[in-house]
Amino acid sequence: MTTFLAACRSEKTSHTPVWIMRQAGRYLPEYRAVREKVDFLTLTKTPELAAEVTLQPIRRFAMDAAILFSDIMTPVEGMGVPIEFAPGPVIANPLREAAQVEALRVPDPEESVPFVLETVREVCGALPKDVPLIGFAGAPFTLFCYLVEGHGSKTFTIAKGFLFAEPDVSRLLLEKLADTMIAYLAAQAAAGAKALMLFDSWAGLLSPADYRRFVLPVVRRVMDGLRSTGVPLIYFPNQGAMLLEYVATLAVDVVGIDWRIPLSKARSILGNAAAVQGNLDPAALFAPPEELKNQIDTVLTHAGGQPGHIFNLGHGIERTTDPDAVALLVDYVHERTAR
Ligand code: CP3
Repeated sequence: MTTFLAACRSEKTSHTPVWIMRQAGRYLPEYRAVREKVDFLTLTKTPELAAEVTLQPIRRFAMDAAILFSDIMTPVEGMGVPIEFAPGPVIANPLREAAQVEALRVPDPEESVPFVLETVREVCGALPKDVPLIGFAGAPFTLFCYLVEGHGSKTFTIAKGFLFAEPDVSRLLLEKLADTMIAYLAAQAAAGAKALMLFDSWAGLLSPADYRRFVLPVVRRVMDGLRSTGVPLIYFPNQGAMLLEYVATLAVDVVGIDWRIPLSKARSILGNAAAVQGNLDPAALFAPPEELKNQIDTVLTHAGGQPGHIFNLGHGIERTTDPDAVALLVDYVHERTAR
């Protein structure tokens, strides 16, 4: 088994595996070169190009895993909601009425996103044997935020207002999103993805009580629906430090942790059932090498050398990051954790 997959299962590994959220993207000149020729949506819908940008960080760095190049909004179009990017997701007709939610389909991924499944197959055929591909999707509440708000936001006040004002319609929307993501992720696993990750980027906008009431049940539905795929399941509740006691009740293999809580403390809440992934502050990559190494050491100290740690940033890499800092990070984590 590869280092990454063994760590997902909390088994001993010869070093701590590392990959980086948003590792395929605009901080890489070779990504920008591809993007000069095609827009983002075309890139996600063209398997040979999406496969190429998925592989770019694997060629440049000694990453222990690849992540599919796509977007969390990609499978939502097939439900009947057109999406644009400027540069984040934009929905021309946000969902604000019960009738709009009732009209949504739960599409068959073979029909709605054949290009994603083709990308997965192409990438799996091209990756080195010891580098597995992570498939991913957005978590129901994070997708709900974009679909109801209509665009990105710091607070998602319209989306949260809708959740509280229309709890029944909101639950129906969350459940349709959950069922769509189950089929979408299961299809990625069938096409060759060796692990599946659910990004809940906006989970931390809710109080623990509202997270427990509205979000936890649909995340559980997704994770329970994917158990039969047999691949490790990763859940990333961004800004979720205050939610971890509820996250601990989910049947997931790995919990992604942002940098706002040390891994030791996260583990003390989660218990030993799940591995942890994280959690260097992405801004540490802008520090001089000695300070970057200090911050990496702090993460590794809190991880405590126990099995079940996958090194990552606490959120996506910033667009202005120097790729050389990423090379330093990957090599330093490998060197410091060699056992
Ligand atoms: O991690 C990877 O390397 C795989 C690719 C990936 C993208 N988006 C490509 C992308 C992944 C895993 C995502 C997930 C995603 N998309 C999330 C969850 C993770 C997180 O950051 O919390 C969210 C919330 C989105 C929604 C989204 N898509 C936003 C907010 C933006 C604009 C942000 C930005 O960086 O400008 C996008 C567009 C997007 N998705 C880009 C990329 C590389 C930039 C597009 C471009 O090339 O112009």
